[in-house]
Amino acid sequence: MVKVAVLGYGTVGSGVVEVIESNNAQVSRSAGEEMHVKYILDLRDFPEDPYGDRVVHDINLILEDPEISIVCEVMGGTGAAYQFSKQALEAGKSVCTSNKELVAKHGPELLALAREHNCNYLFEASVGGGIPVIRPINSSLTAEKILSIQGIVNGTTNYILTKMGSQGADFEDVLKQAQELGYAERNPEADVEGHDACRKLAILSSLMTGKNVDSDQIYTEGITRITTADFDYAKAAGMTIKLLAIGRLTEEGRVLAMVAPFLVGNTHPLAMVNDVFNAIFITGNMLGDSMYYGRGAGKLPTASAVVSDVIDCARNQGRTIPCFWDSESAEVADVSETEQRYFLRVKASAKAEAEAAFPGRILELPGRQEDFGLFTGAMKEKDFNEKYSSLGDRALGRIRLA
Ligand SMILES: NC(=O)c1ccc[n+]([C@@H]2O[C@H](COP(=O)([O-])OP(=O)(O)OC[C@H]3O[C@@H](n4cnc5c(N)ncnc54)[C@H](OP(=O)(O)O)[C@@H]3O)[C@@H](O)[C@H]2O)c1
Repeated sequence: MVKVAVLGYGTVGSGVVEVIESNNAQVSRSAGEEMHVKYILDLRDFPEDPYGDRVVHDINLILEDPEISIVCEVMGGTGAAYQFSKQALEAGKSVCTSNKELVAKHGPELLALAREHNCNYLFEASVGGGIPVIRPINSSLTAEKILSIQGIVNGTTNYILTKMGSQGADFEDVLKQAQELGYAERNPEADVEGHDACRKLAILSSLMTGKNVDSDQIYTEGITRITTADFDYAKAAGMTIKLLAIGRLTEEGRVLAMVAPFLVGNTHPLAMVNDVFNAIFITGNMLGDSMYYGRGAGKLPTASAVVSDVIDCARNQGRTIPCFWDSESAEVADVSETEQRYFLRVKASAKAEAEAAFPGRILELPGRQEDFGLFTGAMKEKDFNEKYSSLGDRALGRIRLA
């Protein structure tokens, strides 16, 4: 029998217990042995809960129990979660997690610890919730040189942008709706400023290169400056706006890693990913494009991904599944030196100046006199920024083209 401990009995933790218990026949058959949740660690007690009798408060009970071979860390954060994960791996217990913040910050160290102790540190649920994406990168795509990964990896911002586009509503109004529906946190900063997507991109681009891409090195821009006017222009151009996390190998062998809103043509597969859904679009040098789509968060989808890792750990006891993510830093490209194409919105009074600075395609909307849109050709980000800032407050906004 495989005995499991779950650390953190919140949204994902209660889902992990539910998946293992209610799908027990399927889970046990897949694992090759019967699976049982022996302990649930949490700060609180859950006297009314059907599994309340398994709740404990002392991590040492779990660490010192030789029957526990797999631990699910679904507490979140980088404090106790980091300590407990390290201690479990040092005790030879595999750790499965949905904690992207911890994986992004300490992934290489925890993977090395797992190798040292012949166990596993697995994190399928840390990117894309229930969508299989880490396992495909680590197993199905191992013959590929992955050239780029482009993803919609944050459901909250995708919901907000989808509704801004379909309802013509303001950012603040849709954010409020999303909070009422439970899709956005009361403090939405990590989502709307792009930090959550940045952590996920740190994980994806580290796996893409095999070296460490630190989230601090990733250029990150959120969606708070996107307006309904931007969507009006996007629609007129046959496009939409998505917050993309992009990791791409450059010709010089560096990795370009950035999170920002992008204009995406309506025929691009990522343009069709709406509401809270996520998708990750991977381009390999042999396979070409492949896309992974589904529910990027939520109790049961995320828990299902954690349990799939638990099953992998049960199938690979005493053996570490290869995962290439070294502690050596990847060479990250300077975004200001890269070439992009841009859409900019400019006050009508600056038309002559903007046209001279950015030779490109003009887009004017019927009945709209106060501003106009302009699509540039490919230009270096730093050159664009210089010219854009010379327009001062007559430049109303800019979005890169995917
Ligand atoms: N929710 C999702 O859809 C989702 C999707 C993908 C990934 N994730 C990630 O999964 C992780 C868990 O998320 P969640 O939504 O399940 O969070 P959550 O609902 O807040 O659950 C966390 C649980 O851990 C407990 N906990 C915190 N510190 C603890 C400690 N030191 N010892 C014991 N228990 C402790 C919390 O107790 P208290 O409530 O008493 O503090 C809470 O019950 C996070 O890293 C999150 O980013 C979540």
